[in-house]
Amino acid sequence: MLQVTFATLFLVMNLQTEQSLYTYQTFGLDITAKEFTEISNVSDLKDVVNYSKSHNKKLLILGGGSNILFTQDFDGLVIKNSLKGIEKIKETEHHVWVKAAAGEVWHQLVLYAVNNNWGGIENMSLIPGCCGAAPMQNIGAYGVELKDVFESLEAYKIEEQHIYTFTNEECKFGYRESVFKHEAKGKYIITSITLRLTKTWHQFKTDYGDIKHTLEEMQVNDLTVKEISDAVIKIRQSKLPDPKVLGNAGSFFKNPEIDTELYNKLKNKYPLMPGYPSPHLGKTKIAAGWLIEQCGWKGKKVGPCGSHEKQALVLVNYGGATGNDILQLAKDIIASVYQTFEISLQPEVNII
Ligand code: FAD
Ligand code: EPU
Repeated sequence: MLQVTFATLFLVMNLQTEQSLYTYQTFGLDITAKEFTEISNVSDLKDVVNYSKSHNKKLLILGGGSNILFTQDFDGLVIKNSLKGIEKIKETEHHVWVKAAAGEVWHQLVLYAVNNNWGGIENMSLIPGCCGAAPMQNIGAYGVELKDVFESLEAYKIEEQHIYTFTNEECKFGYRESVFKHEAKGKYIITSITLRLTKTWHQFKTDYGDIKHTLEEMQVNDLTVKEISDAVIKIRQSKLPDPKVLGNAGSFFKNPEIDTELYNKLKNKYPLMPGYPSPHLGKTKIAAGWLIEQCGWKGKKVGPCGSHEKQALVLVNYGGATGNDILQLAKDIIASVYQTFEISLQPEVNII
């Protein structure tokens, strides 16, 4: 009888065993999940969570797998979040509120906004992954972070089996940080996010990096949401490796924030060291890519992996690397940067 119940559950939830995760993470690692299922509605999500709780399974939620490094096969249940749907839920004269289900691809949401000429997320065009993971590390690019447009999210609390709403403040966003990486870690499954975008009076941000220069090259005179999005896409495609071609998870480390006093000392020694203002008093953000490049890692291949030739902060799998090869490379880079600059790099990627 018990066996029949399990068999029925497996069928209903479409549970796969020993599922390869090769195509479910962007590092292109040859790893497997002991159990795997893909959910496309909240009711199935509840059933699967129930099942995992009653069988004491380790649980992992996966979006696009673009910010994760598996160092071993996953000995538990992986839930691929495929909740879908994007809708406008509220509108005023100047703003629009858009709700996206967690399994929607982030760039599809950006395109939806761009096609409607709604402003706010165009600088975050082409960031890989799903909407549900975007609040995890408060994704950001080209001078804009998710928190700048974020209204709220809904998340299923595993322990209580109840959906809660989190406001912007409750998410405790910071640079590549949120409550979901700390006290709420592993406790919630984000099911949707809601963003507030502009219909009029867009606040374009073109100061960061190469945006202005690229817009000039594109001969743009009257700025639009779409043109900024196009410029960002152009820059990103010229610098960052496409995970479909070369396995990677974007920046492997965060850009460190150091005391401005230390930064000034280092700047005397290394006049070309880039530094950016930080929202934290007395701190300066520095470019981890620059530190790594100075230590001679940029473009260096170590066995099957290495640091990318155009962006030292991106670690890549040239084919056949294991998660531990990449982790060892990351550790060697951390040690080498510390030896030279006495600065500790912190991983941005979630290491499992
Ligand atoms: P996953 O890798 O699937 O998951 C990441 C973490 O979130 C895991 O711990 C997972 O368990 C958890 N998680 C996922 N979904 C949920 C959910 N619904 N509920 C609860 N927990 C969940 N990031 C930036 O911020 N800016 C960039 O410019 C940027 N550029 C990138 C460029 C490249 C080429 C690549 C490969 C990555 C880049 N990233 C960037 C990193 C990555 O795209 C983002 O972190 C993205 O938000 C990850 O989404 P994902 O769906 O792939 O998350
Ligand atoms: N730099 C080097 N050598 C390198 C790379 C960078 O010297 O190999 C220096 C240069 O001075 C460059 C500066 O670092 O001007 C900044 O480089 P870049 O503009 O490429 O940005 P980044 O700081 O390396 C951050 C994010 C990216 C995001 C870009 C654009 C982090 C950890 N990374 O990278 O996010 O796309 O800015 O906003 O904050 C990600 O999080 O995965 C990611 C790709």
